Amino acid sequence: VSEGFYDVSIVGLGIRGPLQVTRETDEVLRSCRVIHYVATEPDAVDYLAGFRAELNDLHRLYTVGRERMPVYRAMTEAVLRDGRERPPTALALYGHPMMFVTPSRMIRVKADLLGLRTRVLPAISALDCLMVDLNLDPNEHGLVQYEVNYALLYRPSLDPNVPCLLWQVGSAESTLYAMPPRTPNRFVRLRNYLRQFFPAEHVVALAVTATRPEAESDVTWLTLRDLPDAYYLIQGLTTLYIPRVGRRWAEATLASGECAPRPP
Ligand SMILES: C[S@@+](CC[C@H](N)C(=O)[O-])C[C@H]1O[C@@H](n2cnc3c(N)ncnc32)[C@H](O)[C@@H]1O
Repeated sequence: VSEGFYDVSIVGLGIRGPLQVTRETDEVLRSCRVIHYVATEPDAVDYLAGFRAELNDLHRLYTVGRERMPVYRAMTEAVLRDGRERPPTALALYGHPMMFVTPSRMIRVKADLLGLRTRVLPAISALDCLMVDLNLDPNEHGLVQYEVNYALLYRPSLDPNVPCLLWQVGSAESTLYAMPPRTPNRFVRLRNYLRQFFPAEHVVALAVTATRPEAESDVTWLTLRDLPDAYYLIQGLTTLYIPRVGRRWAEATLASGECAPRPP
């Protein structure tokens, strides 16, 4: 583990429990006085309870149907307070600490302003597991990734020859934590956006990689047209995978003189 003293360490716990925690992270957690954590899997919580540090569950700050941003601010404040008053302090998060984790970025910025020494350690992300489940290697055709609401707001152009992952699809059209109930309407604008670049019959996947070593990943394939009707399958851990268009469809557009999918 890197030399020196850090007031705050931000680490990831992997996706499938303690077997996916790196030895580097394990060593850092061993030295901490306080461990704040955002993780709900019992195995991960049991693992953290094995350290001598005081534990603080930050996931309990979320309230269903309430805004996420004030929760991120409260998490940031709690970690920085202990970073100042009771170092060394850690924030341990599900997955990789820099993959779609707003509080990690907020803590880094504020810690710099406060003169606190911070470090972030890499970890296994859902991306690493999904690459296995979906047989994805960016070496082949590249890989594009967006947070779903970023894509809805800024509408980046997608290249149909490049596979795409849309993260946090369960939060489409919402800044709230797990806003229930979900309806097909939540996914209509998303489907229409994707239809600008991919045909209606294009087969996409709702993917949830296994969160326990003995569990199976859950990958449901459906056409883009049917995405809104599958709203009830879309949950907090779902990532939407849009494969690149197959050669057959690309060639068919040449044969028909059609250079882009028809608008929805
Ligand atoms: C707040 S982000 C946290 C990601 C996490 N830091 C990581 O490294 O994987 C939550 C989003 O990550 C993705 N995600 C998390 N767990 C997943 C899983 N088991 N399978 C598929 N996607 C997952 C989903 O897009 C979900 O909405």
